[in-house]
Amino acid sequence: MINKEQLDIERLPAHIAIIMDGNGRWAKKKGNPRVFGHKNGVAAVRDTVEGAAELGIKYLTLYAFSTENWNRPRTEVDALMSLLVNTINKETKTLLDNNVRLAAIGDIESLPSNVAANLRGAIDKTKTNTGLTLVLALSYSARWEIIKAVKNIAEEVKSGKLNVSEIDNTTFSNYLTTKEIPDPELLIRTSGESRISNFLLWQIAYSELYFTHVLWPDFRRENLYEAIADYQCRERRFGKTSDQVSEKIQSK
Ligand code: IPE
Ligand code: IPE
Ligand code: MG
Repeated sequence: MINKEQLDIERLPAHIAIIMDGNGRWAKKKGNPRVFGHKNGVAAVRDTVEGAAELGIKYLTLYAFSTENWNRPRTEVDALMSLLVNTINKETKTLLDNNVRLAAIGDIESLPSNVAANLRGAIDKTKTNTGLTLVLALSYSARWEIIKAVKNIAEEVKSGKLNVSEIDNTTFSNYLTTKEIPDPELLIRTSGESRISNFLLWQIAYSELYFTHVLWPDFRRENLYEAIADYQCRERRFGKTSDQVSEKIQSK
């Protein structure tokens, strides 16, 4: 296990995104219903958020519920929504204690009204916090987000507010729900699945991907340290050659 002191504090990713997966399998392994796994996933969220805040990570985005997750059995969706309300209410204090600012991306309007209201309340209560920004991806999918951006851009071009020639990477990013948030340098997925499942497709163009077999309810800050340590061993080349990248580091 890696401890915090082994990390290079000068080279922390500013933004870490996590696909929290494996709750159902964790519960099944213990002979329990899937919802038991979701409930136990809350401790993993708390410890990861506290660990990230303590390290000085600026943004942590957690994929909590995808657009496609609406297709799960009604009882599971209902249980997840009530867990979300309870967790937001119970954990707002943890966020305040850790100077964490809450934000959300996704189709928040599509959430049950009590979930959306509680979420907005917690976002408001934490809005002056200056530490970690915790972004919850709820009823989120990257294709939903991209289509929404394209529609808004098309409307603005049609009404003459935007010129086609102005559309570049920066302009496009400004139409996404993540417009205030830098792209993640590191994307973690738990549970051994090696796929993206419609998460942040535009934003992860150059993210480092880290897959672990740990099931989400077992994930703790030490697992986060391990992912960061792995990230810190990588050479990010952005299309350049290794020589070019190391020259740049030496000339700093
Ligand atoms: C992740 O765990 C939580 C959500 C997607 C809401 P899963 O519920 O997907 O757990 P597995 O993948 O079935 O084990
Ligand atoms: C991705 O997990 C969505 C979240 C973690 C919220 P899923 O468990 O829904 O993904 P697939 O269906 O296995 O790709
Ligand atoms: Mg899953």
